[in-house]
Amino acid sequence: MCGITGYIGDNESASVLSAGLKNLEYRGYDSAGIALIGDDVTVHKQEGTIDGLTIPSNADATHGIGHTRWSTHGEPTDANAHPHTDCSGDVAVVHNGILANYHELKEELNGHIFESETDTEVIPHLIEEAIADGADLRAAVMRALDRLEGSFAIAATHADYEGIVAARQDSPLVIGHGDEGMYLGSDVTAFVEYTRQVSFLEDGDVAHLYDDDIEIFNDGERVTREVQTVDWDASAAGKAGHDHYMHKEIHEQPTALRQAISGRVDDLAGNASLNIDLDDGFLQTIDEIHIAACGTSYHAGLYAKELIEPLVDISVRVDLASEYEVYDGHNTQDTLVVAVTQSGETADTLSAIRRAKASGMTTFAVTNTVGSTITREVDDSLFIKAGPEIGVAATKTFVSQVTALALFATYLGRLRGTISADEGADILEDIRQLPSAVQAILDEEAQIRRLAAQYSDSKAFFFIGRGLAQPVALESALKLKEISYAHAEGFAAGELKHGPLALVTENTPVLAFLNQSAAPEETRNNVKEVESRGAPVIGLATDGADESFCKHTIDIPELGRLEPLVANVALQLFAYHVANEMGRPIDKPRNLAKSVTVG
Ligand code: M6R
Repeated sequence: MCGITGYIGDNESASVLSAGLKNLEYRGYDSAGIALIGDDVTVHKQEGTIDGLTIPSNADATHGIGHTRWSTHGEPTDANAHPHTDCSGDVAVVHNGILANYHELKEELNGHIFESETDTEVIPHLIEEAIADGADLRAAVMRALDRLEGSFAIAATHADYEGIVAARQDSPLVIGHGDEGMYLGSDVTAFVEYTRQVSFLEDGDVAHLYDDDIEIFNDGERVTREVQTVDWDASAAGKAGHDHYMHKEIHEQPTALRQAISGRVDDLAGNASLNIDLDDGFLQTIDEIHIAACGTSYHAGLYAKELIEPLVDISVRVDLASEYEVYDGHNTQDTLVVAVTQSGETADTLSAIRRAKASGMTTFAVTNTVGSTITREVDDSLFIKAGPEIGVAATKTFVSQVTALALFATYLGRLRGTISADEGADILEDIRQLPSAVQAILDEEAQIRRLAAQYSDSKAFFFIGRGLAQPVALESALKLKEISYAHAEGFAAGELKHGPLALVTENTPVLAFLNQSAAPEETRNNVKEVESRGAPVIGLATDGADESFCKHTIDIPELGRLEPLVANVALQLFAYHVANEMGRPIDKPRNLAKSVTVG
């Protein structure tokens, strides 16, 4: 859950590494640092964001490594920031992940000088010992790796040895092959402004980067990893004039949705054409789908359940990935397990998938990230094609996940004969309308911003919805709380009177989804219950419907099953503007990071 970058080549290492860290900051931002290697090793590191780090230009440096941290072992302090060095100061190491056995290793390294509270610091000292025994840098890193338990990605350098040695075990690392050198990153955004030619390291790989070459080893054997061209351009990693990545990404949704849908709609057949490798015969006979995911992706999974069950007539179980268990006696042969994950690197989701595989179940990922760990572990993947999402708050990837899952629901329904071609065509038509419906909401941003300003100092916010809108109520509450730190909760509308109503006062706005697709009369009654307790209600109402009993309404284009998804965009904007009114660091909420690679 930290960001690693590395560079060796003709450009000035300090500036390449700083740019890389800036782009990786979403992975962690409590401290940052760089080691530059020339005749010796110079380390610049400190607590805080990369903006606060002063890196003197160093024309003598031939290469370097950098790190942006989300702390696990040891508070965010200058001493705990990476890179870490050995006793001589010649070895520098950056690390992402957790070392399970670092206590034991630290005891063994008795006599070495430790300056931090991190688990990472044992690595440079293990390398130091191997070099003292006559190993070169690569051999020393390999020897250190033999001692490490846990999940990690590391990069190591030494003042007297050429190149950067990097290794991955359960934590991503990507190599960039440029005309002016070789790049290393936790993901492609670290170096996409320099090259789009990439190769993804696999678990157990040790890569030795030189300025014009790379050697990769796995289990002692020399291996090659395919060089692929990624279709992200450099602007995808910038803010394009927006104040925050989150705002940019909210506004990118019509484009992201077009990408998710493009080439996947077969009008004639009333079907989605998904080009997936899962066997049709298997998909016809499964009797249960499990979805495992975390956070926003979990909410996309809940939305998918509401779509799939009625269309496909199959039971869908949705679990938080960290809670996912397979019980003895479960019919694993006829179950499909779907992981929903933007990053494809979330540790809890990966371990849920590993449990499912160990039980013999077929696994499928719905993800944004080509080359991610999950794509290598599951039987097949469906890409949501949303483009890079940098803001910690997931926005465009949520709508793209639900859209990809709606296409998948249509595909399953047609395959299993539970929906006709005409019904399939109707669903696909709604999917096709999504980008313009979302644009219509974005065009109403001024109204939503005014509402956000009016209520930004409220004591708490509640979101209520039924059916397809219930997951969106949960998602909207998560969005608001993570970026504004305001108390926000989402409920099934009918549940309010079973407890949460006690919290409702004139100082707790209630945002209510009044979509027509699920018992609108009942939801109206729930709204009246909160209004009569004095709560101001902001209704998200189907365009044209008279919901004048709400204090405010935001009109949502009528879009059947997908209407709550469109309404979600209005509440992304609401969350953004409340947080902005409160002066919060929207793209870097406290204690969070984009990619949660620890369990
Ligand atoms: O990369 P993933 O989709 O697996 O991430 C799962 C959650 O960590 C993520 O959705 C998180 O809840 C969001 N950043 C919230 O906006």
